[in-house]
Amino acid sequence: MNPTDATDPNAAAQPAPPRAATPGDALESRLLAIEAAARFHNVELDREELRYPAGQPPAPAALVEWVRDSGLWAKAVRMKFAQLLKVEVASPVILLLRDGSAAILTTADPARNIVWLADPRGNSGDPPVAVDELRLSRVWGGEVLLLRAIRELTDDNAPFNFLWVWGVVRREHKLLRDMFIGSFALSILTLVPPIMVMTTLDRVLTYRSVSTLGLITTIVVVALLYETILGYTRRKITHIVGARVDAKISLHVFKRMLRLPLDFFERQQAGEITYRLMQVNKIREFLTGKMLSTMLDMVTLVVLVPVIFLLQPTLAWVTVVCAGLIALIIMAFLGPVSRSVGRWISAETQKSSVMVETLHGIRTIKSLALETQQRDLWDRRTATSVQLKLEASDMANWPQTLVNPIEGFMSRGIILLGALLAIANPGSVNPGMLVGFMMISGRVAAPLIGLARLMDDMQEVRIAVGFVQSVVNQKPESANPSAGLRPKVEGALSFNTVNYTYPGTKTRALDGITFDVPAGTMLGLVGKSGSGKSTIARLLQGITRDYEGFLKLDGNDMREINLPHLRRNLGVVLQENFLFRGTIRENIIAGRPGLTLTDAVRAARLAGAEEFIERMPNGYETWIEEGSPNLSGGQRQRLAIARALIHDPKLMILDEATSALDPESEALVNANLTRIGKGRTMVIVSHRLASLTDCDMILVLDHGKALDLAPHSVLLERCTIYRQLWLQQNRHLEAPTTPRGGAVALAQGDD
Ligand SMILES: Nc1ncnc2c1ncn2[C@@H]1O[C@H](COP(=O)(O)OP(=O)(O)OP(=O)(O)O)[C@@H](O)[C@H]1O
Ligand SMILES: [Mg+2]
Repeated sequence: MNPTDATDPNAAAQPAPPRAATPGDALESRLLAIEAAARFHNVELDREELRYPAGQPPAPAALVEWVRDSGLWAKAVRMKFAQLLKVEVASPVILLLRDGSAAILTTADPARNIVWLADPRGNSGDPPVAVDELRLSRVWGGEVLLLRAIRELTDDNAPFNFLWVWGVVRREHKLLRDMFIGSFALSILTLVPPIMVMTTLDRVLTYRSVSTLGLITTIVVVALLYETILGYTRRKITHIVGARVDAKISLHVFKRMLRLPLDFFERQQAGEITYRLMQVNKIREFLTGKMLSTMLDMVTLVVLVPVIFLLQPTLAWVTVVCAGLIALIIMAFLGPVSRSVGRWISAETQKSSVMVETLHGIRTIKSLALETQQRDLWDRRTATSVQLKLEASDMANWPQTLVNPIEGFMSRGIILLGALLAIANPGSVNPGMLVGFMMISGRVAAPLIGLARLMDDMQEVRIAVGFVQSVVNQKPESANPSAGLRPKVEGALSFNTVNYTYPGTKTRALDGITFDVPAGTMLGLVGKSGSGKSTIARLLQGITRDYEGFLKLDGNDMREINLPHLRRNLGVVLQENFLFRGTIRENIIAGRPGLTLTDAVRAARLAGAEEFIERMPNGYETWIEEGSPNLSGGQRQRLAIARALIHDPKLMILDEATSALDPESEALVNANLTRIGKGRTMVIVSHRLASLTDCDMILVLDHGKALDLAPHSVLLERCTIYRQLWLQQNRHLEAPTTPRGGAVALAQGDD
């Protein structure tokens, strides 16, 4: 089927036009078109990353997001046919047709008023078809998707710094321009009251002119009206700019945070990270608040400074010098103030991390009765913070104190100086002018002082930027989330002399690990605590990629595989699994697009969770709170297994998934493992050997070395360490060499 067939009026008139496509067909054509366009820029899109509500076709915005997530530039726009003719087809342009399908614009021919379209579903050899405006308008409403490669650093990859944030603000240039125009107009209007006072005092009172008073009143009323409207608009625009910048920055920061590798989060305290990221609010507040308003006030200066010099040069000079002095004082204290503020802020950080840590570990704290200890710690941190805050405020108090008399002189002293001038040189100053001058000079000083204060705030913002940078500018997990292979995962694993040393440690956690297992193997990992079992599981999940040697999944180097793709194809169950707030169904589906209750039920059945879910008051719709207090450990674990199974992964990793369970729950889960393991590779870490006896292969680890790889019965015969571990755990069994099913062994009272 060709979209251009449809543009043939005759074809459209037929009772059963060839393009009577099903919605799925149309969507397929759209996706193919976008994928082809992305491929043009050497980017492979992943359909799993396309997010849209189930049951309806993805909106253009969702398509744009999909493309952007893979590092390309994309935009959905509306175009007229005439604009389409002018498009320079340097890269593919996609027309989104009304029926949900798409066509690719290959060339535009303005001379003949036609465009050439290709069908994304056609073979690459199919020639494009010429279409004119009338025929196109029957199937196309004007929606176009543009795709381009990004040459410069994309927003996502640009390092976070003050300039970047300022760039975000600057992108609102249209609104900013309006604001500047508004401010300029406002500053002219601020001249009205002083001029009015001057005129009233000098003319109206002296000559008792009622008509002048009437005129002045009218001007004042009109000016007041304008001022009110302008003021309202300026504030409104400020809020809009603030909100937009806020949204952009917080989206960016969150996105960047999610791209950081897991070990970054393991190294840093959650409280610390939260605090640092929250500093972004300070930056945004500063940029769209103080900085913007000071800059706008500067506009006022352009109007007001000449006016005061016109009114009275001597007094004008005094005003400017005073303002300059104030600025100097504030600048002189910049360094000391910012240093002591910095000390206070770092104390605050430490204090808040106690709070977060306490909240996270509240169960442990309560059960170990550590409340007093935590309170003491909090007390100490609070005391330090309060002390440093006092020191910082003390320091900041100095410039304010010194500035105060100068400010006082500016507002009150000038009137005396003016009077002195009037006495010494009659006619040079009259009362109306003096009052008018006072009113204007007040507005001159404020922005100048504001500018100096801005420098002060700048220091704080610089610290805030540093904090945010320390999180956001960390090396992301992968430089380009869309890069890498996306092979079909079967589950064959191959380790070849893999060494790994954790950063900051000296001994190898993995030391020359070499083994191969074919797809579909049920592989057990055993070894003493610290022997490297979890490290192998981490390598398989791509959490750590800076190992030495080769680790291959189905023959593909693990480091070459696209990370999101890898993780989507894994099922991982850990000892502790986080269940989100939501229903049981939502927790099992975990936001994966296109999955329904039926899938959740299938996964739950396979995980052995169906039995207890059905006994729950609301079944699959039972609500789970954070921390899932209404579920037992075994139930939680079975839910986690169901969640891992929902997308039928070909590689499952269970790291001590059953260790925290009571024997009965463990037996239940283990009994399901063989069933779960059908058709996929399972990597099961367990320190209870009895639960691994059914494994096809067991890898014995010791101090990061792979000692042996064989089934249970063989290991019992030939691997000393394995035999020792087995005997330790199963001394009560009369015939330890008889392999038993894990569940059976447990039912008999393992451990
Ligand atoms: N995040 C880390 N930073 C530094 N060293 C680590 C880290 N995680 C593990 N190690 C070290 O690496 C080695 C292997 O740890 P691993 O977690 O793989 O052991 P394990 O076999 O899973 O032990 P267990 O049975 O106790 O879970 C240990 O010596 C451990 O001290
Ligand atoms: Mg472990």
